[in-house]
Amino acid sequence: MYINFWYPICTSEELKATEPMRSQVLGLRFVAFRDADGDPHVLSDTCVHRGGSLSKGKIVDGHVVCPYHGWRYAGDGKCQLVPSLKAGDKPPARAKVDSYPVQEKYGIVFAFLGDLAEEKRPPLYEIEEYEDPAWRTNELIILEIGCFYERSMENGVDPIHNEFVHPIQGSPQPIPGSIEYPETEWGSGVTGLYTEQGTKTTDADGMRSDPTVLNAGTWHHGPNTLITWITFAKNTSLHQYLFEAPLDGDRTKIYFVNLRSFRLESEHDDRIREANLRVTVEDIAILEDLTPTRTPETRTREILTPGDKPVVRYRDFLEDWNARGWRLDWKATRENHGDVAYAIPCPDRSKSGNWVLDPVPLKPAALKSVDSAHFG
Ligand code: FES
Ligand SMILES: [Fe+2]
Repeated sequence: MYINFWYPICTSEELKATEPMRSQVLGLRFVAFRDADGDPHVLSDTCVHRGGSLSKGKIVDGHVVCPYHGWRYAGDGKCQLVPSLKAGDKPPARAKVDSYPVQEKYGIVFAFLGDLAEEKRPPLYEIEEYEDPAWRTNELIILEIGCFYERSMENGVDPIHNEFVHPIQGSPQPIPGSIEYPETEWGSGVTGLYTEQGTKTTDADGMRSDPTVLNAGTWHHGPNTLITWITFAKNTSLHQYLFEAPLDGDRTKIYFVNLRSFRLESEHDDRIREANLRVTVEDIAILEDLTPTRTPETRTREILTPGDKPVVRYRDFLEDWNARGWRLDWKATRENHGDVAYAIPCPDRSKSGNWVLDPVPLKPAALKSVDSAHFG
């Protein structure tokens, strides 16, 4: 798990104006709430007085109020009021909690969980066709699954599981020479043209128009965003975006945005949603039983083949973020749970000191956690 990326915190719909919302990501708790203008904010959930959970509090005048002794925090994380002080006394300067940059998009509230300055931050993935009338966005699907998010991400970019895990899709065979492995600054993936062979039975979904050639691609953006584009025929494309929130080392919440460029009428929503879900459920059934739960820390404990190349490239990107010192020391975090209140460091920490909560332990930047890539 990594700091310094954008993570989904909750849906826009869940975030009411009247009450704070609790969310868990990267093994830590956060509170999300709306201020008096309706703008969303995400703070560390731990009150710096004596550890109350802000998400169990209430909203007063656009501030979140701790349920224990009533300290009030604004969206910037600064305490505005300590009721037990004499009237007119200001809250102590250290009375502040981490506040994270927020973007509300695609019906999701995202927070940048890290301390990088704005110009250095990896961007939130931009779905360019999101507001395009030529596309229909289906209802947001939320899934909570019992597997580590990096296992789920690896499955997303894995081109060799489809015919086994999703046999109803037929056995699309890649057209030789068409497979490419595109890369961006923040991710990598695999694209290709496929011809359909074998037992193609998917017309029952009403989703396909008898393609002879299928154009499919899948990428990761950062450690936790997965993009899949499938074009069945001209003007017949499905785009799927999975924004994944690692709840902890074993569980993941997925915010699944899906769009299509065909059958734009709402009457097709349910059937297409079901088809999307069916494929996802097939993946989850495999992922929840992988051993070990998390990817082994050394590649000698697996046998990787050339077909695993996109998975290896994903791990190479993780390795790069390890080298920058962005990887959480999950074992230390878990071991100290109960004795230490941790927070993901927010951008303000690089501007001012004097913070009450400990920053979450990170793996040392120089330490590589995975052996260098090799196949076989
Ligand atoms: S613990 Fe939050 S106000 Fe006391
Ligand atoms: Fe799959």
